[in-house]
Amino acid sequence: MATARRLCSIDVLLLFLGFPLLQGAPSRATDTIAAGQPLSGGQRLVSRRGKFALGFFQPDTSSPNWYIGIWYNQIPKHTTVWVANRDAPLSDPATSRLTVTTHGNLALHDGRAANKSPVWSTNATTTGSTVGVLLDTGNLVLADASNASRVLWQSFDHFGDTWLPGGKLGRNKRTGQVTRLFAWRGYGDPAPGAFSLQLDPDGASSQYLLSWNGTAPYWTSGNWTGHGFTAVPEMMVTDSYPLSLYTFGYVDGADESYFVYDVKDDAVLTRFVVDVTGQVKFLTWVASAAEWMLFWSEPKAQCDVYALCGAFASCVENALPSCRCLRGFSERRPHAWMQGDHAAGCVRDTALQRCATREAKNHDRFYTMPNVKLPSNAQGVVAAASARDCELACLGNCSCTAYAYNGGCSLWHDGLINLQDTSSTAGTGSGIIQIRLAASEFTSTGHNKKLIIGFVAAAVVVAAVTAIALAAVLVLRSRRSKGPTRAKLEGSLMAFTYRDMQSVTKNFSEKLGGGAFGSVFKGSLPDATATLVAVKKLEGVRQGEKQFRAEVSTIGTIQHVNLIRLLGFCSQGTRRLLVYEHMRNSSLDRHLFGSSHGVLSWETRYQIALGVARGLDYLHEKCRDCIIHCDIKPENILLDDAFAAKVADFGLAKLVGRDFSRVLTTMRGTVGYLAPEWISGTAITAKADVFSYGMLLFEIVSGRRNVEQRRDGTVDFFPSTAVSRLLDGDVRSAVDGRLGGGADMDEVERVQGGVLVRAGRRGCQAEHGNGRAVSRRARRCQLAAGPEVAQIAR
Ligand SMILES: *[C@@H]1O[C@H](CO)[C@@H](O)[C@H](O)[C@H]1NC(C)=O
Ligand SMILES: *[C@@H]1O[C@H](CO)[C@@H](O)[C@H](O)[C@H]1NC(C)=O
Ligand SMILES: *[C@@H]1O[C@H](CO)[C@@H](O)[C@H](O)[C@H]1NC(C)=O
Ligand SMILES: *[C@@H]1O[C@H](CO)[C@@H](O)[C@H](O)[C@H]1NC(C)=O
Ligand SMILES: *[C@@H]1O[C@H](CO)[C@@H](O)[C@H](O)[C@H]1NC(C)=O
Repeated sequence: MATARRLCSIDVLLLFLGFPLLQGAPSRATDTIAAGQPLSGGQRLVSRRGKFALGFFQPDTSSPNWYIGIWYNQIPKHTTVWVANRDAPLSDPATSRLTVTTHGNLALHDGRAANKSPVWSTNATTTGSTVGVLLDTGNLVLADASNASRVLWQSFDHFGDTWLPGGKLGRNKRTGQVTRLFAWRGYGDPAPGAFSLQLDPDGASSQYLLSWNGTAPYWTSGNWTGHGFTAVPEMMVTDSYPLSLYTFGYVDGADESYFVYDVKDDAVLTRFVVDVTGQVKFLTWVASAAEWMLFWSEPKAQCDVYALCGAFASCVENALPSCRCLRGFSERRPHAWMQGDHAAGCVRDTALQRCATREAKNHDRFYTMPNVKLPSNAQGVVAAASARDCELACLGNCSCTAYAYNGGCSLWHDGLINLQDTSSTAGTGSGIIQIRLAASEFTSTGHNKKLIIGFVAAAVVVAAVTAIALAAVLVLRSRRSKGPTRAKLEGSLMAFTYRDMQSVTKNFSEKLGGGAFGSVFKGSLPDATATLVAVKKLEGVRQGEKQFRAEVSTIGTIQHVNLIRLLGFCSQGTRRLLVYEHMRNSSLDRHLFGSSHGVLSWETRYQIALGVARGLDYLHEKCRDCIIHCDIKPENILLDDAFAAKVADFGLAKLVGRDFSRVLTTMRGTVGYLAPEWISGTAITAKADVFSYGMLLFEIVSGRRNVEQRRDGTVDFFPSTAVSRLLDGDVRSAVDGRLGGGADMDEVERVQGGVLVRAGRRGCQAEHGNGRAVSRRARRCQLAAGPEVAQIAR
């Protein structure tokens, strides 16, 4: 019965929607451009083995701008890796020309422009004749025509937003020049934006800095230790899979220092970009999903990016878009804003009164914004005895735009940047800020324009009130006819309204946790037994209503004693919520790694391991429409009253239709659970879950996280140690010391070594060795042992 497998959805953030490239024009199957053979219109250079192409392209079809760029030639998603004329767009590719000039430089001319000077040129010092060659590394080189190894200029020395394998990002010690990656300004605009990555220009250190405007650093890689950068612990898991596919190193030579990386397998497409979001991202192409998969990014929190939202906007973590104008302000450049370029920020709808007119009666007023993380750059901290004094201090200075009183009085002047709205991310740093607005912003009369707006608003309100009243009548009627049960039954699922959800969860007052897909709240159904439920408020859902219902009803049909049961859902407007059965004993990670619970006995752990295997086996093999979970880890294993395991969050990646990779990378230590095929680009199958399950088993046995950072910054990858001990016949040393010897060693061996040993009989033993080699082999073996989950389950 198990037929079509449902893959976890990998929706990439970068939505390069339909790049229309010039069609029909003859394409040149050459990698070389020489004097007298200009490139124009739809003509292209294609690297020798076809990996990259160079030609004219248009990143945003709604804008008339064209560029010369390099992109991957063999994948269906147009992905630009380099742009020549980043800030000098062309208007018409048909009349534009890329040529090798008489001086031997590559130059780009806009045929429509009155000015005949090139819009872009390689500008190198040349002698004799030259050619431009597009290499299979994605590097465009200008070389001596008679000796191709004499490179006069190369695109790898002039980064755009992308750092390809083989490129060197660093500093020339003789000239003091540093190479820099500059993010695009917006997704449709390749002009250099505000965010850049470079080696610390201060010659002494080996750290890379992400900065805004080149002046405000907001993330550093830390210094090179010889194995990795101190602030990139992932790099120090030297034999973990994602990185074992790469070679990398920091070179500190006499003339230059730089970092360079490369992929061991040439077929793996991988790229490192400074994104429009101000984050650095490491992506790899997953052919089976036809998507770029993100496997590492920094800073992890979007709102840690400096000035991401510009002035007078607040940043909201886990929201799309991340930036919102403050009340009383509107986007300064709405078109750019829509394309993800928020740098210009927001502007006041109404000028401040007091400073403009000096009228005493038209005082400015303050809008109270609660639940914010205050910007750190308060420009004035004044002594003030009370909130009122603080307010007066702000009013007394025309450049003051906001204040916060918290015992002390902080003032902000001019454009307010780096304000974070934390109302949806409970916990961290809740402050209150007072935003200065014109008094008229608080009334709807006063000006003619406002009056009209007022009338329109009033009309809308009247209409809305009427509609609400009507709806209320209808709802009341339908309730009366249907009795007290609020939720309608849809298939086996209950369909709730948002108001139902509010009352079920007491207005979302008791938060159980926050997962990758949204926060979870405790609730109780209005039935006779007040059934406890866990309500998950999905975030960032992009799916339409119909598709959402279809997906939900599929998940609703999946029922197994080791899978969390979906009871109902709510889909109203843009709101999407899921109602699950509630598990009293929370998630496995809290019991394994937390200190507030007692130690799980070996018997319980063994039952949990079996339960998870049975649940997964069912998902993979037994249910009608099979599902690959893609995110097996202790956080997603819930425990019921009797500590039976229930796998949670299956089918959600697909449901939320969100960049699955984001889910992976935002989780700490996920690197430990991530199957190698996510990175290597081969097809994702149920074995990816088996790999993660194997990683989970190590944690169940040891009672510790597989990936732990040591004090010196390096990372301890437990499975490597455990496997080499295991192969030496030492089963006991990997067992959680807190069990005090109370574990059945046969079972431990079965759980810990089961997958491995079974695979060993199939030929993996041939590669016996020690240390890293063993662990890599072991993991390959675990992977090879896909169907074995079912066996463990029995
Ligand atoms: C070429 O180099 C010269 C001097 O090095 C500089 O003045 C000029 O702006 C450069 N032109 C371009 C197009 O980069
Ligand atoms: C080509 O140029 C390289 C680098 O400048 C040089 O080492 C090599 O000898 C040259 N080859 C010939 C045939 O001139
Ligand atoms: C941006 O950088 C320039 C110099 O590169 C500097 O003069 C300017 O003050 C910076 N802007 C801000 C707001 O820091
Ligand atoms: C890196 O080294 C430099 C110079 O030794 C030092 O100033 C800087 O603080 C170091 N960076 C970090 C993140 O430790
Ligand atoms: C307003 O505050 C700014 C920043 O603290 C200060 O430079 C300026 O002199 C103040 N203006 C007045 C009129 O006090």
